[in-house]
Amino acid sequence: MTVLGLARVWALVFSAGWGWAAAQTPDVLQSGSPERGKALLLQRQDSGCVLCHQVQGLPAGGALGPSLVGLPERSTKDQARERIADARRFNPQTIMPAYFSTEGLYKVATPYKGQTILTAQGLEDILSYLFLPSKATP
Ligand code: HEC
Repeated sequence: MTVLGLARVWALVFSAGWGWAAAQTPDVLQSGSPERGKALLLQRQDSGCVLCHQVQGLPAGGALGPSLVGLPERSTKDQARERIADARRFNPQTIMPAYFSTEGLYKVATPYKGQTILTAQGLEDILSYLFLPSKATP
């Protein structure tokens, strides 16, 4: 991970709780690719999901957040999309970065200003992996 990448992830982690602001709602573009979603989930720099979550079919993840194994049994895809886009909507004190918001973030490095962490397509790709039936995990 580059220094800038690390700074970016942590700037976003520490942004949590610094005020809720109007969040963007991702457009549902097209169906996601579970293979790309799996790769994104594993990328510590671009997503960081496995730093905090266990995910089915992926090597041991972190425990700062709840395990995402069995997510489809307790959440709809739409709920998960909203949560990943901006977890502050559900918990203003969350430590989870707002992956599809450019609002209300704290100390974002200049090159990343105005950018969301995930693209709308990347978000759909991650969802398509998380909502695969467990036997079909690539
Ligand atoms: C810094 C730690 C952290 C990172 C990084 C993180 N999360 Fe979270 N996540 C949490 C925590 C903590 C919760 C529990 C709810 C809360 O506190 O907001 C959560 C909740 C969730 C939930 C709801 C789980 C449930 O049981 O309903 C989903 C889905 C989720 N995260 C997906 C992701 C995805 C996908 C990524 C990467 C794009 C990610 N998270 C990155 C900490 C994190």
